[in-house]
Amino acid sequence: MKVTVVGAGAVGATCADNIARKQLCDELVIVDIKEGVAEGKAMDLMQTAQLEGFDTKITGSTNDYTKTANTDVAVITSGIPRKPGMTREELIGINAGIVKTVAQNILQHSPNAIIIVISNPMDTMTYLALKSTGLPKNRIIGMGGILDSARFRYNLSKALNCSPNDLQAAVIGGHGDTTMIPLTRLATYMGLPVSNFLDEEALKKVAADTMVGGATLTNLLGTSAWYAPGAAGAMLVESIVRDEKRMIPCCVALEGEYGQSDICLGVPVVVGRNGWEKIVDYKLTADEQAAFNKSADAVRNMNDVLATLSL
Ligand code: 2OP
Repeated sequence: MKVTVVGAGAVGATCADNIARKQLCDELVIVDIKEGVAEGKAMDLMQTAQLEGFDTKITGSTNDYTKTANTDVAVITSGIPRKPGMTREELIGINAGIVKTVAQNILQHSPNAIIIVISNPMDTMTYLALKSTGLPKNRIIGMGGILDSARFRYNLSKALNCSPNDLQAAVIGGHGDTTMIPLTRLATYMGLPVSNFLDEEALKKVAADTMVGGATLTNLLGTSAWYAPGAAGAMLVESIVRDEKRMIPCCVALEGEYGQSDICLGVPVVVGRNGWEKIVDYKLTADEQAAFNKSADAVRNMNDVLATLSL
């Protein structure tokens, strides 16, 4: 199994680190446009092999995609991250060109690769990757809902004073501060609704904190987060390469599911060796569906911006 991570910044390097530690592939290639950075990160990571006990062979490449040939799964993290005060959406002008070029470069040498998109604004970048490559929809997966769901569980675990591992909770919709939808109604603590333990005000705070989870970290760090985004990307890779069939909220192409079409948006999907294999229907309430439609409108407006860019 061969995995490529494009972008050796904080998210890409953390994702690569997680992939190697979990030994998800025999070969891992890191690509970056900055001369020597991917090679340096690959060498640094390889020097953890004996310490961590993994056998994955990691190599770095400065923009030479021949080294990525025959990749099974490619993770695109390239582009600029947001700074404090910026929305993910403000990155579109710069990141669209980068994501389109990277996806084409990957497919030129690995026509069968499954592509995971992490670059922001992620829902629009996933849509762009789908449209510009013409790949079957199951092979393009945007990473957002899995990260937002991990943040949802973190916030719930703090409110409940429990382990995040005893919680089930999903965030669907867009990966934006105002477009994501933490599904509080369906969140459970070992099978019991979290509303058995938390009142409405506490649940609203958990949802609100979850929605600005990325922005909170950006304000603290001066740039966007990387540990959870990198780990979330690696979890997706794991479900693909090990054919785990995990049910994960991911950004995928909708063709009528959840009442939406011609858009990539976060919904629960089963992820396995073929990419995303099936969309699961949460049977939303009218209010949840209205929030989902509103989220779709915002993402669609962002997708429309693509047509105004010279890509
Ligand atoms: C985040 O939410 C990077 O969009 C990513 O932290």
